[in-house]
Amino acid sequence: MDTNVAGGQRSLLRLLTCGSVDDGKSTLIGRMLYDAQQIMEDTLATITKDSRKHGTVGEDVDLALLVDGLEAERQQGITIDVAYRFFATPKRSFIVADCPGHEQYTRNMATGASNSDLAIILADARKGLLTQTKRHSYICSLLGIKHVVLAVNKIDLMGFDQKVFDRIVGEYASFAAGLGFQTMQPIPLSARFGDNVTGRSGNTAWYRGPTLLEHLEAVNTEQDEVAKPFRFPVQWVNRPNLDFRGFSGTIASGSVSVGDPIVVAASGKTSQVARLLGSEGEMQKAVAYDAVTIVLTDEVDVARGDVLVPPMDRPPVSDQFAAHILWMDEEALLPGRQYLMRTGNLWTNASITTIKHRVDVGTLEHQPAKKLELNEIGFCNISTSQRVPMDPYAENRQMGGFILVDRFTNRTAGCGMMDFPLRRATNVHHEQFLVDKAARAALDSQKPMVLWFTGLSGSGKSTVAKLVEKALHALGRHTYTLDGDNLRHGLNNDLGFTDQDRVENIRRVGEVSKLMVDAGLIVLCSFISPFRAERNMVREMLEPGEFVEIFVDTPLEECIRRDAKGLYARAKSGAIANFTGISSPYEAPTQAEIVLAGGAGATPDALAEQVLDLVATHQLG
Ligand code: ADX
Repeated sequence: MDTNVAGGQRSLLRLLTCGSVDDGKSTLIGRMLYDAQQIMEDTLATITKDSRKHGTVGEDVDLALLVDGLEAERQQGITIDVAYRFFATPKRSFIVADCPGHEQYTRNMATGASNSDLAIILADARKGLLTQTKRHSYICSLLGIKHVVLAVNKIDLMGFDQKVFDRIVGEYASFAAGLGFQTMQPIPLSARFGDNVTGRSGNTAWYRGPTLLEHLEAVNTEQDEVAKPFRFPVQWVNRPNLDFRGFSGTIASGSVSVGDPIVVAASGKTSQVARLLGSEGEMQKAVAYDAVTIVLTDEVDVARGDVLVPPMDRPPVSDQFAAHILWMDEEALLPGRQYLMRTGNLWTNASITTIKHRVDVGTLEHQPAKKLELNEIGFCNISTSQRVPMDPYAENRQMGGFILVDRFTNRTAGCGMMDFPLRRATNVHHEQFLVDKAARAALDSQKPMVLWFTGLSGSGKSTVAKLVEKALHALGRHTYTLDGDNLRHGLNNDLGFTDQDRVENIRRVGEVSKLMVDAGLIVLCSFISPFRAERNMVREMLEPGEFVEIFVDTPLEECIRRDAKGLYARAKSGAIANFTGISSPYEAPTQAEIVLAGGAGATPDALAEQVLDLVATHQLG
């Protein structure tokens, strides 16, 4: 975002307004815009007309309509997205992120908060502090906001009573004590009538503090990004011809000059800044927020996503982190599932290894949790497939913030704030042995692979797998079968059938089959494995071609008819919970190498034959 540096002082304040429905948030923003003379004459005319239609204040102009631009909102009376507004006074300019109050829109609020320096937390003087007020404050603190205004609105409806104000402020101060705000300014106001918004109110003679606008103009939110260590996440490698190679991006923090030594954070490769190019051409020095191209003195390996840093002040680089995660997706976060993680310009695979606790945002209490649902916040351990340079979010918002993306829907599913790297794993290295997979497999004259049978319970997975293994064995192949029912008696005897347990089940089976492939074996896996995400995860753990997905496609009705173990009957009567196909989902493969039509009339031998054909081709190829 443009930071508009004037006379060495940043004159832009990015602020966020948070309030529950009816707290008067839209009216307050409208009032600020109105008083700051930002309303264009023609906009005003439209609003006067619209107030008669939708407005809730009789013949007065309804200032809320200035802000509640969305038609849906006008009809439902709630705000449904983040809207940014701009206004200016001679002293400062302001970008206001207007965020909705409803709990289900926490994600929008987090988006607004991550870009803001200050939050106006609205409370209705008649209602006092609501859980929402606390929730908003906690999210603001989590997303690094250091300055809050507690706007006690509708004080006119409480007779401008100082006692009402003092009680709310006292209660808020004790709640917010642990949230790490640097400033907390309480202001009694009436957004509708303008008391203490831009002009001092004669109705609150007892209040000695600033008006809202005075405070917003004066508050020093300066986060001295320039004074922080130099961080330059490379956005792209600029190579127009063979004679030029520069690294382009925006400086996240600190400053850099021509001649400075630098190091590539993840690889540790060192070099020196040879040239700095900005929008105006050659520069000697560049600082935080400048978009530049850096040319180094040496041909070091630098790619998009790398971070250039000073050798003496390097960020932690790790593949294990502790972080707070705010979940924003309808589909719950499940430990063990892989997501795409974006930090700065780097994309990597990541999974949550443990949810240490969930935070009750109303009370700040820590609760045990096995998953995170929409809008929940958890403190988690995360493991990434690549080593990632990150600073703790509290020290550097840009270098410590990340998002998690669902690998199939491509939706932003969560956002995270890194707390600290976990060092446990950093002193463990891969050991190279003298005998490797190829050598082991050569002894057996076979190509190691995984035959992954997926399908409903009773579809015939294990029956076919048994026949395939028997035939392969007769051909002199070294095989091993991993089977759901069997593993659940040993390695996985701590797991049940919730979504998160099934994810963990398949993760472990994936790791074990990978070891067995490394041992040179042909591994047959027979698991319902109901989720596409985990089947694909196992596919990606192995080398291309090693994973063969076999969908035993037997219709549910046929499985129910067979019901060899009597489980469907018990599931239907409610005696077994979370039963696949009955009370738990099954996601059919879309790209299986083999689809076996396992319905009525199919013979297991014929199905096994299809698998054996493919194995034969694979072994020859
Ligand atoms: S998976 O979903 O996690 O892949 P897995 O293949 O290990 O499941 O185990 C499935 C077997 O457990 C089924 O064949 C069935 O015998 C048994 N089972 C017991 N309860 C359930 C349940 N709720 N859902 C599915 N299978 C169950």
